[in-house]
Amino acid sequence: MNSSATASGYGSAPPRTPARIAFHSGEFVDPATIRLTTGTQALHYGTGVFEGIRAYLQDDGESLAVFRLFDHLERLRRSAAALRIELGYEPEELGEIVLELLARNAFGQDTYIRPLAYKLALEPGTAFGVRLRGVSAEFSITALPMGAYVDQGGLDCKVSTFVRVPSSAIPSDAKITGTYVNNALAVEEAQAAGCDDAILLDSTGHLTEASTSNIFVVGAGGEVATPPATSDLLPGITRAAVLDLLPAELGVRVVERPVHVTELSDAREVFLTGTGVEIAPVTSVDHRPIGTGGIGAIATQLRAIYQEVVRGRCAAYEPWLTPVRPR
Ligand SMILES: Cc1ncc(COP(=O)(O)O)c(C=O)c1O
Repeated sequence: MNSSATASGYGSAPPRTPARIAFHSGEFVDPATIRLTTGTQALHYGTGVFEGIRAYLQDDGESLAVFRLFDHLERLRRSAAALRIELGYEPEELGEIVLELLARNAFGQDTYIRPLAYKLALEPGTAFGVRLRGVSAEFSITALPMGAYVDQGGLDCKVSTFVRVPSSAIPSDAKITGTYVNNALAVEEAQAAGCDDAILLDSTGHLTEASTSNIFVVGAGGEVATPPATSDLLPGITRAAVLDLLPAELGVRVVERPVHVTELSDAREVFLTGTGVEIAPVTSVDHRPIGTGGIGAIATQLRAIYQEVVRGRCAAYEPWLTPVRPR
């Protein structure tokens, strides 16, 4: 871990300006006015779904553009459907709400957007119990300024003793709040061991993902591999972007195949991809260096091209950006 990092490589966030305006229950409101009761069903059973989306400051130093907005909203729709939550908005409408929220907050800096749909209360006539049908739902979106928050010097990850919740137990392609107990336990264990993040395995010892990101491994022979969607992971939108960018921009072929944990020991490079972490090199696993222990060539180049893309400097990838129209 880089010496400038905090105890966790995930703790180096810039000062945050509290969000001034949130979207809740169909209206733009002051977030301080949102009230939820302890009866909220999602609190009891983890029956919520969410997204993490980033909007990036563009090169004019003023305007924001949202990275792959409609891919995130489509995943939100799918996640909500898995829990029988009716969002009540078409993707286009949701997109407009997100853009309006950003325009109203006018943060003028990189921003993180968190849509959250959650089960609220039993509808009249519905019997008490753990259930999905007959339960009302609520939908909120918050946004807050957030730059890079992962240690830029490389992460030390722990291979978790907690097995990733298999998709046979909870669908892993849905971003369900309750599933994240698994991730939080794994991070807690990793940080207690002095690491930054956890790499979770499936029950056969194959890599699934890290706590909030997908994983790529560059083998000793130079092959770049990432676990397939069938490896009990959330197929990330950043992962999809990286699967496009590596061959197209760096001429690097990637294979999606099961990756066994033993492959980490002779990996040349390991890096994580996710909306929050962006492109985060892993320089050691369980305190043992990966490769030379420095940031590898592929991660270095990928991080650079990723920044070019999200800042709107690559015409070819402009369709991945949705501009925020100022009010
Ligand atoms: C468990 C998990 N895996 C992977 C990812 C990466 O997904 P994305 O690139 O869509 O942010 C995330 C973040 O959303 C996550 O929480």
